[in-house]
Amino acid sequence: MRRQQITKAVIPAAGLGTRFLPVTKASPKEMLPLVDKPLIQYVVEEAVAAGIRQIIIITGRGKRAIEDHFDISFELEEILKQTGKEHHIPGLRRISEMADFCYIRQSQPQGLGHALLCAKHLIGDEPFAVLLGDDIIDHSTPALKQMIDIYERTPAPIIGVQEVEDSEVHQYGIIDAAQTIDELHKINHLIEKPTKEDAPSNLAVIGRYLLIPEIFEMLEKTKPGKNNEIQLTDALNDLAAFRTMYGYQIKGNRYDAGDKLGFLQATVEMGLKNPSLGKAFKAYLKGLSL
Ligand code: G1P
Repeated sequence: MRRQQITKAVIPAAGLGTRFLPVTKASPKEMLPLVDKPLIQYVVEEAVAAGIRQIIIITGRGKRAIEDHFDISFELEEILKQTGKEHHIPGLRRISEMADFCYIRQSQPQGLGHALLCAKHLIGDEPFAVLLGDDIIDHSTPALKQMIDIYERTPAPIIGVQEVEDSEVHQYGIIDAAQTIDELHKINHLIEKPTKEDAPSNLAVIGRYLLIPEIFEMLEKTKPGKNNEIQLTDALNDLAAFRTMYGYQIKGNRYDAGDKLGFLQATVEMGLKNPSLGKAFKAYLKGLSL
């Protein structure tokens, strides 16, 4: 495979967030605040830190707040100026200037694979990244950067994985690795949310992918799978049949922020790490009689 620089990333954000009801009834899950930033901003910042310049967000009904968040807010800036709070403006501007943002609406939620297919015309003939907003990964080298560094040496589709407990395999895409060299697992096949008995390993796909445009041909042929949705994992499995594909074991603490408990864990740990809040938050937690 010819190595091309990866500058585009797709962030699917059209999901209904049913695991987080009722808060997601009228607000996008992607806008849930993790300490002081919405979840999706962490993912965008990770992509930008890995060299991504164009962010394509797949949205749907009720997701307007995402577009407003990454846009310039002239009215807010004006009010901040009038009220002597203009020191907030550079930080707000930085959010909209991080990358070029494009939005595509997925009219019907038909699964992750279908959401990705909506971006086909904006990707063209180049490799690209996909980041899922539920997976918040904390490491000094951003997860996507770790993967792009591998891709520079090994230009092939790369799927981010981490080990999970047997009791959790049914929540993830799971890879069957043929051969492992360092942290790279050559993928034989993938299966979406298998039972414990059917899982070929404990290596779970965690929301980071480096893909090639051929995935769209596979997605166009993919029939609805698990939960009657077009599954990206099924299309990847078809691609793995004739393309070398790797699972890369991502380094870092990963939180499933689309889940209530995972979100609380992320809030506590990121809160403790926050430069301006961490000390006071730690003192507060220590004072709790648990
Ligand atoms: C999706 C993918 C699954 C992957 C998971 C990671 O599932 O379909 O393969 O393991 O994300 O978070 P979802 O969590 O959207 O059901």
